[in-house]
Amino acid sequence: SEKRFFSMELLRWYKRERRDLPWRRTKDPYHIWVSEIMLQQTRVDTVIPYFNRFVGRFPTLRDLAAAPEEDVLKHWEGLGYYSRARNLQTAVKEVVATYDAQVPSEKKAVSGLKGVGPYTAGAILSIAYNKPEPAVDGNVMRVLSRYFLLEDDIAKPATRVGMESLAQSLIPEGEAGDFNQALMELGAMVCTPKSPVCGECSVALHCMARQAGRERELPVKSKA
Ligand code: ADE
Repeated sequence: SEKRFFSMELLRWYKRERRDLPWRRTKDPYHIWVSEIMLQQTRVDTVIPYFNRFVGRFPTLRDLAAAPEEDVLKHWEGLGYYSRARNLQTAVKEVVATYDAQVPSEKKAVSGLKGVGPYTAGAILSIAYNKPEPAVDGNVMRVLSRYFLLEDDIAKPATRVGMESLAQSLIPEGEAGDFNQALMELGAMVCTPKSPVCGECSVALHCMARQAGRERELPVKSKA
C-alpha cells in the first residue's frame, strides 16, 4: 500500500542520512524532553550548545528540580520564550514529587505535565519509550499534507487531529521513535516550506502534491 511504502522508504532514508544530534545519542526521557522543549521555537543549530550546557549543569530531573529558578533561566538565556524553562522546571518538580523522578510512560500522565502538549507528549513517548504515538508539529503536517495531498486548513484543530491519526497509522511496528524523527527530519532538511528539495527526497515519485506540481501550495494554512 501507499502508506506502507511511504513509511518504509522514509525510515530507510532516515537511517542512512540522519544527523548525529546530541539528543539522538540518549534514551534518557528527561534529556529527550529538554530537547523537545528547546526545539519547539528554536532551530536545531541554535539548540545544540544550549542543550549540552543544560544537561551538563542539570544532568538529572532531581538536579533541575532542586536548582534555583534564576540558575535555570540563566542556562536558557538567549533561547527566548522563558516560560518554556519555567514550565519545564515546574513539570520536573511534579515528576520528582508524583512519579518518583521517573518520566511517566503513559500518555495521560505525560500530557498532564505543565508545558507538555500533544506534540511533546508524543515525541517523549515515541523517542524515549518507543511507544506508537504520533508527534505532529508543523514540519510533520507539511510533509503529510504534501505526500497525501491533504488540502484541509492546518490551522484548524480538526485537521491536526486527523493528521495525528494518519501519522499514528503510519508508524512501523517497533520503530515509533525513529519513524517520528524521520518525519521531522524530512520536513527540516528536504520537504521545506518555500523551496522543497524534491530531487533529494526518497519518496518524491509517490508524493501526490509533487505529481500534481502543487508542493509549494501545501500545506493550506489560514491566517487568523
Ligand atoms: N525537532 C523537533 N524534535 C526534533 C528532533 N528530535 N530532532 C530534530 N529536530 C527536531
